[in-house]
Amino acid sequence: MSLLEVKDLQVHFSTPEGDVTAVNNLNFTLEAGQTLGIVGESGSGKSQTAFSIMGLLAKNGRTGGQALFEGKQVLNLPEAELNKIRAEKISMIFQDPMTSLNPYMKVGTQLMEVLIMHKGCSKAEAFEESVRMLDAVKMPEARKRMDMFPHEFSGGMRQRVMIAMALLCRPKLLIADEPTTALDVTVQAQIMDLLNDLKRDFNTAIIMITHDLGVVAGVCDKVMVMYAGQTMEYGTVDEIFYKPTHPYTIGLLESIPRLDTDDTKELPIIPGNPPNLLNLPTGCPFQDRCGHVTDSCRKQVPNLETFGNGRQRACFWSHELVTAGGAQ
Ligand SMILES: Nc1ncnc2c1ncn2[C@@H]1O[C@H](COP(=O)(O)OP(=O)(O)O)[C@@H](O)[C@H]1O
Ligand SMILES: [Mg+2]
Repeated sequence: MSLLEVKDLQVHFSTPEGDVTAVNNLNFTLEAGQTLGIVGESGSGKSQTAFSIMGLLAKNGRTGGQALFEGKQVLNLPEAELNKIRAEKISMIFQDPMTSLNPYMKVGTQLMEVLIMHKGCSKAEAFEESVRMLDAVKMPEARKRMDMFPHEFSGGMRQRVMIAMALLCRPKLLIADEPTTALDVTVQAQIMDLLNDLKRDFNTAIIMITHDLGVVAGVCDKVMVMYAGQTMEYGTVDEIFYKPTHPYTIGLLESIPRLDTDDTKELPIIPGNPPNLLNLPTGCPFQDRCGHVTDSCRKQVPNLETFGNGRQRACFWSHELVTAGGAQ
């Protein structure tokens, strides 16, 4: 049994202008200790995918399909059951740590509360365990910092506190939604290294959500590339980086800044913008930005095909790497 098995996951929102499908039939599995990257431009449905699994969708949202965590459907669970799962099995960190930290409470108190509430620890146990976890996220002078307020920490240090808090109950799955987007590049790299270490030390599975394909290279086992709520391509990190077969993936890869090339050269950014979900074109959502567009792409949405090794792709452009493998 996989740790997480997502089948035909959908997220719909009702709005005054009509129904929006923000997530359209995602399929993926995640094993214990594995990392999945979900990559796509802003608005592609990455956060709503995570929110649906966590039971955090806005009131006008509804889900379809299944998300089986340890074999159990977690979509649409009652709030009490969700609270238990959220604290003890699946936890989430956000781009802005202040969404989860209380600015008026000492960091130590906030960490201890989690352990007292969910693990029934005594105050003394909770204190020691919180210090241990701050040490684990490489917080310098952890014991001293327990007494400090969130605003006394730098952005990177606050993100470490968030990660510590998310890991306190030893969840089996950590969902990190753009955890490094607000940080500068050096701190970004440190946080990604940290997540890699923690994954090894705690055997936590991670869903790493990012708009930056460059971020996932060093940490992920599998990568899902999303566009307008749909899977464009899904495969192992090596397949996605070294053998991309979807024009959107190829475009994203070309726009990653590279250290080994002349940085005065302008990077190609895929021209254009993602479509409005309320007014999707007939056919492939990427058609207007795609260099390989044909009449078929404008007439119907390409099927999401699954290939022998579990790789997925939705595209009419015939690519030797996928046609050689044959669809299932
Ligand atoms: N409460 C809502 N009501 C209507 N539409 C929403 C709502 N929340 C999100 N959406 C739609 O879902 C799309 C995907 O959002 P999101 O998953 O947050 O994108 P991202 O990939 O940037 O994380 C948004 O572009 C928006 O159109
Ligand atoms: Mg988002």
